[in-house]
Amino acid sequence: KKILVIHGPNLNLVGVREPGVYGTEGIDDINRQIVAHAEAKGLVCDVFQSNHEGAIIDRLHAARTEYDGVVLNAGAYTHYSIAIRDAIAAIHIPVVEVHLSNVHAREEFRHKSVIAPVCAGGIFGFGKQGYLLAVDALEAMQ
Ligand code: DQA
Repeated sequence: KKILVIHGPNLNLVGVREPGVYGTEGIDDINRQIVAHAEAKGLVCDVFQSNHEGAIIDRLHAARTEYDGVVLNAGAYTHYSIAIRDAIAAIHIPVVEVHLSNVHAREEFRHKSVIAPVCAGGIFGFGKQGYLLAVDALEAMQ
C-alpha cells in the first residue's frame, strides 16, 4: 500500500511553534519517524507540507490515483475549508484526519471540523504518535 501524509499550514514550524502545545520535535524528525514506521510495515509513504489551501487540494486530487490512503493534518483549514472537505469527498480513497493537539480541549473554534464527516476517521491529542496510529489505521483498512 502507498500512503501520503499531508501537513497543512504552519505545521512546517512544528518544534518552534507553541512548543507547549505542539512539542519541541521538528517536522523533519517527525516525518522520518512516520516514514520509518510505514516502511517497517512494508508500506510506501510520502510526505507533503504546504501553507496553501490550493496546493493541498491539488495534492489530494493527485493522490486519488497515486495512493491507497491519506493521513491529513489540515491545520486551521480543518475548521473552515469547505474546499478541502469537497476535495476529500471527491477522491474516494480513505483520508484519516490527524491533529497533534486535543482540539476539543482548546478554543471553541477548534472544536468544529468541517472535514470530519468526509474522513474515514480521526485521531487527535496524541502528538506525533497520531500520525503513526493513522498509518496503522490505513494499513488495517479494506
Ligand atoms: C492542529 C490543530 C489546529 O486547530 C491548528 O490550527 C493547527 C494544528 C493540530 O495538529 O493540533 O495548526 O491541526
